[in-house]
Amino acid sequence: MSESVHGMWSSRIMFILAAAGSAVGLGNIWRFPYVAGENGGGAFVLTYLVCIFLIGMPIMVAETILGRAGRKSPINTMQDLTARSNAWSGWQVIGWMGVLAGFMILSYYAVIAGWAVAYLFDMASGTFVGADSTFANDAFKSLTGDVWAVVGWHSLFMACTILISARGVGKGLEMTVKYLMPMLFILLLALVLWAALTSGHFLEGMTFLFSIKSEDFSGDAVLVAMGQAFFTLSLGMGAIMAYGAYLPKSASIVGSATTIALLDTVVALLSGMVIFPIVFANGLESSAGPGLMFITLPIAFGQMSGGQLFGTVFFLLVTFAAITSAISLVEPAIAWLVEKLKVSRAAAAVSIGVLAWFWGLGTAFSFNIWDDVMILPEKTFFDTMDYVSNNIILPLGGVLIATFTGWFLNRAIFDEELGDLSGWLKTVLMLLIRFVAPLGVLVVFVMSFI
Ligand code: PHE
Repeated sequence: MSESVHGMWSSRIMFILAAAGSAVGLGNIWRFPYVAGENGGGAFVLTYLVCIFLIGMPIMVAETILGRAGRKSPINTMQDLTARSNAWSGWQVIGWMGVLAGFMILSYYAVIAGWAVAYLFDMASGTFVGADSTFANDAFKSLTGDVWAVVGWHSLFMACTILISARGVGKGLEMTVKYLMPMLFILLLALVLWAALTSGHFLEGMTFLFSIKSEDFSGDAVLVAMGQAFFTLSLGMGAIMAYGAYLPKSASIVGSATTIALLDTVVALLSGMVIFPIVFANGLESSAGPGLMFITLPIAFGQMSGGQLFGTVFFLLVTFAAITSAISLVEPAIAWLVEKLKVSRAAAAVSIGVLAWFWGLGTAFSFNIWDDVMILPEKTFFDTMDYVSNNIILPLGGVLIATFTGWFLNRAIFDEELGDLSGWLKTVLMLLIRFVAPLGVLVVFVMSFI
């Protein structure tokens, strides 16, 4: 098929922006620094980088190949490709798992993004002018402790996501990423410069992020690093497959995937380079958990001249980065509902959004009225959603995607999608997709159990 019924990106660049928009999000700015902080800094970062390049990139290529070859929602793409490859139709489970993971992630993603929206308004109104670490800590606790506020912001964010998704690929998704992504990048660079020049603890932050101590490696930290690699690249759940379905035939998949992975990695590392110097300069805990970004950055903005404006713009961009990711979390499910039930995109978007919103209440409550309700041992509702989707479903989805693409997909389809890729590059890629990526994930799974 040359075009998808859902619409098409107007160019290869738009695909890169959209997929980078999906990849770059709360995972980079909010989640990466806090999980790196909780799991030993440098050792974690190294493991994460290895996972990005050896496991993540090949899987991103594989997902995009499948998406473009099928041009439908991940569930129907898998149905189509298994038929064309004479493979077992059970591989469709990839699509189903993706819809489930997307739903679980969106449910809490919208809650955290809601916090960012709340901070946006606080920044704008000058609440944080002159803020020190006590003030920032208290402000975070009082926001997350307030059920009504959290649910209100959560609802607002979810409504915006649905509104954009309902407008479709061209008018909704593409228009949104086109302007927001470049702006985010420029602002982040400015912030790194600021942290480097004024925090006085830049080196300490860099040492924490990049110096590797062998005692910091542990099976569980390795699993978390791999989960983070999948999460940050939006892999293993069909988001990239869905976006690949709208990619024009002429574009290079390997080139696009490399660009997207590099952009995403740079944004994560830069975020760490902004946050950790501030953590050390203010005597904060590097292992503070999900509140890390929300506590550190307001202090920085509170202290710097022009911080009110800078902070407002920053949280605006975090919000936008989150929106460009959230719309990709629902895309597989929306596309499937439209294909299956022949409903309008708007109806599909609203139904999924309402369900995910409802499920998200569990996360909204995890920081207040349900903060002592544990679903898995020592894991709140939020922790459970995050752990199960990122550390289990996404990597498992990734193994299945790589295995199907490497071993079962009709070779003619594989070759056609890779176009003029030179012979040796194709061999390397095939080795990565067939062996390195799936075995890498399995090794990490096994390590985390022992
Ligand atoms: N990659 C996004 C982020 O880093 C989150 C995401 C995960 C989006 C999976 C889509 C699919 O914030």
